[in-house]
Amino acid sequence: MRRHVIPLIAEAAPRPAWPAGMPLDQLQRPLRDLRISVTDRCNFRCSYCMPKEVFGKDYPYLPHGALLSFEEIARLARLFVAQGVRKIRLTGGEPLLRKNVEHLVEKLAALRTPDGRPLDLTLTTNGSLLARKAAGLKAAGLHRVTVSLDGLDDAVFRRMNDVDFPVDDVLRGIDAARAAGLGPIKVNMVVKRGVNEQQILPMARHFRGSGVVLRFIEYMDVGATNGWRMDEVLPSAEVVARLSAELPLVALAPTAPGETAERWGYADAAGRHDPAAGEIGVIGSVTQAFCRDCNRARLSTEGQLYLCLFASRGHDLRSLLRGGATDARIADAIAGIWQGRSDRYSELRGAGAAPAPQARRIEMSYIGG
Ligand code: GTP
Ligand code: 5AD
Ligand code: SF4
Ligand code: SF4
Repeated sequence: MRRHVIPLIAEAAPRPAWPAGMPLDQLQRPLRDLRISVTDRCNFRCSYCMPKEVFGKDYPYLPHGALLSFEEIARLARLFVAQGVRKIRLTGGEPLLRKNVEHLVEKLAALRTPDGRPLDLTLTTNGSLLARKAAGLKAAGLHRVTVSLDGLDDAVFRRMNDVDFPVDDVLRGIDAARAAGLGPIKVNMVVKRGVNEQQILPMARHFRGSGVVLRFIEYMDVGATNGWRMDEVLPSAEVVARLSAELPLVALAPTAPGETAERWGYADAAGRHDPAAGEIGVIGSVTQAFCRDCNRARLSTEGQLYLCLFASRGHDLRSLLRGGATDARIADAIAGIWQGRSDRYSELRGAGAAPAPQARRIEMSYIGG
């Protein structure tokens, strides 16, 4: 596997050429991937993300006026693209709960890189509204979707989402996304030891050969509410071992630097990758941190820019937007914030050196996956 030993001090390694003028952070990482949260609400209550005890009916969600408008988001996105961003992911909470989110998709789909190319425009969803919304999202210019799905067994799935939502509706959503041409579709499964680990093989059997890329995610210590414990993490290496016992796998090369998932292809009888059977991914953010090439920035629903999933503090871009700052001023602010970045939380935690949080860490429901 490629992430065996992660040195504490990032070693100098060859990196792809980066166009002059684009900011690099303190660890020489470019800004490539912008994740935009469009709502802090969700209709699911996955215990690892929005446990019911914390996110009850009195939870203080953001008021409407605090949310960035679609015009504000699109303006910021354009300025981020000028700083190197090539992929935009809409997240939440559940992004399909944001009213008329298709209008935002349309605005983002119209953006072009400095050399005239469209962005990789994608969205992460729990799939509950996808059957209804897939065709409209495609028509608005969305390229692909990633669907969160933690099991195929209806009882296990209902327990994981904790709102008794049936798995068949999500599977219908995935079919609708496929029919609409929102591929390649990815399915993300968070694995919790003792909770849904028995779903690993059924999920793999179900999606093998379907064109959907199934990814197994280690349960992370993100946020401050999920009561994370290391003994509930099933290491990605173990997922690969369990799968290969029944469905032989071969390691595949990464497709892009800084990728979250380690790719494995299903093998044919000769032990070679069988493209018709497809591939899976494992995202080992706990046991095999991938901070070294992390090129992701996160924009919260209220316009705070976060430089790490484990950050406690964001950088306020909304006050610049609403205070009448020019494009040049906001672009300078984005570049300066990125140039000051040295975050690598998972890498430090893996080495037993994670800094104590200065304040309560952000929640994944607030900042997206
Ligand atoms: P693709 O472009 O489709 O490959 O997406 P991606 O893997 O970059 O993004 P996605 O949102 O699908 O990430 C999958 C999961 O990986 C998330 O839900 C998180 O659990 C985890 N993850 C994503 N980005 C980060 C990150 O920067 N740090 C950590 N620690 N985990 C991350
Ligand atoms: N650990 C790992 N992934 C998480 N997600 C949310 N909370 C966690 C966590 N504690 C990810 C899941 C979900 C996406 C919205 O966020 O992948 O699919
Ligand atoms: Fe909602 Fe996704 Fe969080 Fe589950 S993981 S509560 S679906 S935002
Ligand atoms: Fe990037 Fe922070 Fe995740 Fe590391 S822990 S990969 S720096 S977001």
